[in-house]
Amino acid sequence: MVELREHLTSQLSQRLFLVHPPEPPPELLLAEPSDGIYIGKTRWLNVPVFWDYTKLINSHIAIVGITGAGKSYLVKTFLTRAAIIWESNAIILDWTGEYNKWVRQAGGKVVSLGKESLNLLDLAGLKVAERTKQIMSSFEILLDLHNFPEERYDIEEGLEKTYAKEKTPTLSTLVEVLEKNKKKHAARLLRRFLVEGSDFFARTSTLEMEKLAESGLVCIDLHSLPTEEMRSLAGLTILQFLKERMRKEELKEQKGIRLFVVVDEAWKIANDERSDVITIVREGRKYNFSIIVASQNPTDMHKTIISNVGTMFILRLVLREYKDYIRNSLNYSHYIDEAISAFGVGDAAVNMIFSSRSEKAHTFLLDKIDGEEPLFVYSIKVGNMNVEKEREEFSRMLYELGLTDEQINLVKVEFERGDGVLEASTFVSLLERFGYAHSSIMTFLRQLGIEEKFIVEVFSLTRRRRAAKGVVDLKLRDEEEGA
Ligand SMILES: Nc1ncnc2c1ncn2[C@@H]1O[C@H](COP(=O)(O)OP(=O)(O)OP(=O)(O)O)[C@@H](O)[C@H]1O
Ligand SMILES: [Mg+2]
Repeated sequence: MVELREHLTSQLSQRLFLVHPPEPPPELLLAEPSDGIYIGKTRWLNVPVFWDYTKLINSHIAIVGITGAGKSYLVKTFLTRAAIIWESNAIILDWTGEYNKWVRQAGGKVVSLGKESLNLLDLAGLKVAERTKQIMSSFEILLDLHNFPEERYDIEEGLEKTYAKEKTPTLSTLVEVLEKNKKKHAARLLRRFLVEGSDFFARTSTLEMEKLAESGLVCIDLHSLPTEEMRSLAGLTILQFLKERMRKEELKEQKGIRLFVVVDEAWKIANDERSDVITIVREGRKYNFSIIVASQNPTDMHKTIISNVGTMFILRLVLREYKDYIRNSLNYSHYIDEAISAFGVGDAAVNMIFSSRSEKAHTFLLDKIDGEEPLFVYSIKVGNMNVEKEREEFSRMLYELGLTDEQINLVKVEFERGDGVLEASTFVSLLERFGYAHSSIMTFLRQLGIEEKFIVEVFSLTRRRRAAKGVVDLKLRDEEEGA
């Protein structure tokens, strides 16, 4: 590494005569591969950039850029490498459901909040007063309680009574208490969280918050919740639990970040001053975890986040309003501002605030985030169900089934033709053509995870199709024979 650094420095001094915007000194960007996460190379001097949080004022990250600019790709690359070098855990609060597939492919866990429940009144090791304060702050953000001071008071008082009444109460208990005390308006504000199909926060928790922070890669799919309000309440609550948990944890002198928490497109909780997203960023290094906030719309991100995060990635932005919003906080050159509108996918301006005393904030250009090849997924369509398998894994399964390389390629061609999707019946026809018996095809379909009732369906469909095709085949043969 020392040699590399020396080599680069000598190369750099030769190139410094060229005119270009200043880049941070290489010693701030380079790191041992096990100390930092590799991201890409600087545009002018081609210096490899390693994200080494020990050189930064804090480990929090913000990412902005128009749709398709590469925000999620950057997050995925980051989490993948962090898991490799530090065995970092990650929790993605997935607002739009876009991480779902990737997390499953990467061997992580997807928690669908629509199917789970999270008792809002869980204490999770906190004192009643502390938890009450947190719950009140969520309600303030979501129910505009500052406009209803009376109801605010009633709910707070109701919470105290509820906790005094029961050891493990739920929201239903709270609403009962409010109704009993004739606090009609307050009860009505909360009743929306009790409606059947929307009562995720009113039932006993099925989600084990204690385990979440150390379960490798976890995607919490908030997309499956019915409203933006519900998604925000879930996001806020999970952040509250995590924050308290990480606060209690001793700061161990160990390498790397233990946990990344990703909030992507969480506008409601990223621009409210009372939200824990802001508190976590503001408190900087206090916790041994790092928050990554991403958004298409920079104005959805509170200014505190933009000016306090140790690292900010600005991917392609076009709207003047959005660009000015960022530039007013970060103060980079006109040159960089212009470059941001001309970015291709993955190009970025990076703002880092270094902690060494002589260094301040630097914004520099990165030529394309050097990411991980995305996994390619094949999807086998059966009725209205899709069974997904990563391409290489699928090929391996076919190989084990006994297909030759040539045959595997034929299957691949069929998938690529359908943009990664293939009807199960077509797949079965292919296997039949290769000489496989029904019984072994059935076993294979089961191995893929296709449900029994669909397997029968697939075979009848294949048979019908073959019957129709048979006519054509016969005709062809007749013609050939005749010729
Ligand atoms: N650095 C990169 N190198 C190669 N391909 C990239 C890079 N960044 C993004 N891509 C590709 O560009 C596409 C869009 O990227 P991505 O999904 O990350 O965009 P996004 O900013 O998250 O968009 P949205 O706001 O709609 O969620 C993806 O197919 C991704 O694989
Ligand atoms: Mg995205």
